[in-house]
Amino acid sequence: MDHGDHVSLLRNGVGPGDWADLGSGEGAFTLALADLLGPHARIYSVDRDGGALRRQRAAMERRFPEARVDYRQADFTRPLDLPPLDGVVMANSLHFVRDKRPVLSLIQSLLKPRGRLLLVEYDGDRGNPWVPYPLSYRSWERLAAESGFVDTRLLATVPSRFFGAIYSAVSVRGETAAGPHPGQRGSSSR
Ligand SMILES: C[S@@+](CC[C@H](N)C(=O)[O-])C[C@H]1O[C@@H](n2cnc3c(N)ncnc32)[C@H](O)[C@@H]1O
Repeated sequence: MDHGDHVSLLRNGVGPGDWADLGSGEGAFTLALADLLGPHARIYSVDRDGGALRRQRAAMERRFPEARVDYRQADFTRPLDLPPLDGVVMANSLHFVRDKRPVLSLIQSLLKPRGRLLLVEYDGDRGNPWVPYPLSYRSWERLAAESGFVDTRLLATVPSRFFGAIYSAVSVRGETAAGPHPGQRGSSSR
């Protein structure tokens, strides 16, 4: 896959505003986000691998020097200190998580109402040592609905020699799905 493939996987799911890329690695999809969103958006690029983030920053500065990217070395399975987001990308990173529901609940809490989760994953359910806990689009549709996301739809697929196909899908944070964002203290009735 090249930059054009990364952009085409995200294109029909991205909207204006501030986004995070969780498990961004060397930034294949962060670069695509920067290309699609332009210099006015803020992008939070989160990965636990500091070396990958450094290489990503170098690529970003070379290719999209005007992008406003905030690099965070952190574990996305734990609460993240981010402002309310319009969208989250998870590309080839959710398949590292066996128990996905608590992570999806954390993502709900990061999103503004009607904020979007854009998932890029291998279209299969059988893991291997490199992709331990994948989920096909059909499995994602079910899990997304059970986790409080609505309006899930398939955006694009690209062939993958490794796994058959890679898909992208967008889901929307349901109105009643999550509690208030940690930064929205005072608006809580809890
Ligand atoms: C296969 S790479 C994908 C990178 C990029 N999203 C892409 O598609 O090219 C998976 C990335 O997720 C990161 N990752 C996996 N689990 C993570 C976690 N719990 N917290 C933060 N990063 C994580 C890894 O460090 C790695 O950089």
